[in-house]
Amino acid sequence: MEASKKLIQDLKRQPGTSKLVERVVEAITIHETSFFRDIHPFKCMKELVFPGLLERRAKQNSLNIWCAACSSGQEPYTVTLLLKENFPQLQSWNVRFIATDISNQILDRARNGKFSQLEVNRGLPAPLLLKHFEKHGLEWQLKPAIRSSLEFRKLNLIETWPPMPKMDVILLRNVLIYFDVETKRRILGQVRKLLHPDGYLFLGAAEMPMSIDNAFERIDFPRSGCYKLRKL
Ligand SMILES: C[S@@+](CC[C@H](N)C(=O)[O-])C[C@H]1O[C@@H](n2cnc3c(N)ncnc32)[C@H](O)[C@@H]1O
Repeated sequence: MEASKKLIQDLKRQPGTSKLVERVVEAITIHETSFFRDIHPFKCMKELVFPGLLERRAKQNSLNIWCAACSSGQEPYTVTLLLKENFPQLQSWNVRFIATDISNQILDRARNGKFSQLEVNRGLPAPLLLKHFEKHGLEWQLKPAIRSSLEFRKLNLIETWPPMPKMDVILLRNVLIYFDVETKRRILGQVRKLLHPDGYLFLGAAEMPMSIDNAFERIDFPRSGCYKLRKL
């Protein structure tokens, strides 16, 4: 990945190569994902994170969530289905859910919300499939109300981020592994500023921020990859 990062930097310095840069990005990004991937983070959201946030945000009635490397959408749609099934009171709240990725092609797929049989077989419980998807030929498409509740946008984590609202929950799973320590530190520093002091950060199972940015501490929920900001 170091070599590909250098290649993209070199390409960007050449005039008139933006289309080529985009093609290289599309060719080298790894989009592996699935519904309810690793399951424990979603148990943690259901049992700890959202019950606490709903109580603490009851006056504002608003929640902001950001999925920062959303791939083809299984991850943000998992969170949306989890909220819909378990916290129906959020229907009257102002819930803003932003899902971003560096790849335009994968974002188009995510917006479309269409998945093959193989993809829905990977982690999606059958009752959720039957309730929230429509069958189109050999594929399953999420119903329009679910799809339209998410804002999909292009965002490169290693460039300057556009303004975003303060977040209650940030998912940054299985993407930091591709960056060097300095880049991870910079990204986590920006996450720290964007997260509400009582918000939550979810990282992939193999990603631990403590040695890179000790502002974060692990939540006491087994295998959740969930972190909060240390109290100063
Ligand atoms: C392995 S997938 C992880 C997807 C999902 N978060 C999960 O855990 O299932 C990594 C995603 O990160 C995206 N990605 C890679 N580099 C990125 C960058 N610099 N900025 C934003 N997204 C990036 C890729 O396009 C890919 O969709």
